[in-house]
Amino acid sequence: MLVLKESDVYGLLSNITVPECNHLLNTLHNALRECTKDKHLSPSERTIHQPEREAITTTLGNTSLFMPTSITTTTGVKVVTLSSGGLKGAINLFTPDGVLLGVLNAAEVTAFRTSLAVMIPFVRYPHPKTNIVVFGAGRQAEWHVKLALLLGQVKHVTIVNRGAPRRMEQLFATLQQKYPDVKFEVLLKSAPDYDSRLRKYLKDSDVICGCTPATEPHFPASYLDSKPRYISLIGSYKPVMQEVDSDTLLSGGRRIYCDTKEGCLAEAGELIRAKVTEDQLIELGELLDDNPLTPDGNLVFKCVGLGIMDLVMAGELIQMAKDKGVGIVVDDF
Ligand SMILES: NC(=O)c1ccc[n+]([C@@H]2O[C@H](COP(=O)([O-])OP(=O)(O)OC[C@H]3O[C@@H](n4cnc5c(N)ncnc54)[C@H](OP(=O)(O)O)[C@@H]3O)[C@@H](O)[C@H]2O)c1
Repeated sequence: MLVLKESDVYGLLSNITVPECNHLLNTLHNALRECTKDKHLSPSERTIHQPEREAITTTLGNTSLFMPTSITTTTGVKVVTLSSGGLKGAINLFTPDGVLLGVLNAAEVTAFRTSLAVMIPFVRYPHPKTNIVVFGAGRQAEWHVKLALLLGQVKHVTIVNRGAPRRMEQLFATLQQKYPDVKFEVLLKSAPDYDSRLRKYLKDSDVICGCTPATEPHFPASYLDSKPRYISLIGSYKPVMQEVDSDTLLSGGRRIYCDTKEGCLAEAGELIRAKVTEDQLIELGELLDDNPLTPDGNLVFKCVGLGIMDLVMAGELIQMAKDKGVGIVVDDF
């Protein structure tokens, strides 16, 4: 049994090469394809089991989420608590007969697997991906930037955040050394010329990523011209949350790519507000080939997250850690 601390997971993922990242991306996409396929099978034939997550909110105001998943060959549960201190928790991974394979810090895995899902349409997006604007400055934003730099031809990164630059000053200092030709900028809402700069950054953008639990759209649709863009949204998970307005959400010819139709229709505030129906959604699991995605207008992707994403990434990380001699081994657990 292997224990992977936050620093172990961060170290493993921060040093991945492009081939390793592509391997993880394909593994994640194949898991989503299995998920979509499995939904059409009878209950007795299914190999993927993802009961609805349970939530407990205590009198201290902390919410713990319990997310069980089995892909038959491995089974696991992620337990995370959302508090004023952010998201903390662990993923436990078991063999089919219940032997504990590993315990992993959940925070980095969650941010990485979500950002990796965003990269599935990103790598299939056929237009330029030079200019990327990311709303949010937390862990998700960090991984969006790192993976886009690794997998795209990004030349300009702009972080837009409500409050402080958070992790971005440190991150940009590190990334600037690794990518000397890339321009990194932070725009804070407190800037006196915030609105005019936001308009300019959005006009110049090729890719826009939402990584916040915002309850008001970050910008109106009128700030975007007719140039096609890739717009990904991973922040909202409650009906009250929205990162973009309905016009922006529906700017891909009213079609939206998603991780899970049921999850997004139930949880994503933007979709609920725009009265999106199931026939407007395309699951990543329905993309059976690697062909470019060419929607009518923008390529819009919404992700609320699935337990299977944690399970398959945890399995891959355990294997990577074993290969590289990372983590604490506990024998005879
Ligand atoms: N789709 C998925 O599978 C998935 C998985 C994990 C997390 N998420 C979601 O992704 C988002 C980011 O996660 P994270 O781990 O990066 O969180 P985080 O580290 O706490 O960062 C949150 C970011 O959102 C900003 N923010 C918070 N409330 C906002 C508001 N009302 N309006 C505008 N900006 C706001 C924060 O800005 P300040 O600095 O101003 O506070 C911060 O930059 C969260 O909504 C989280 O629930 C989605």
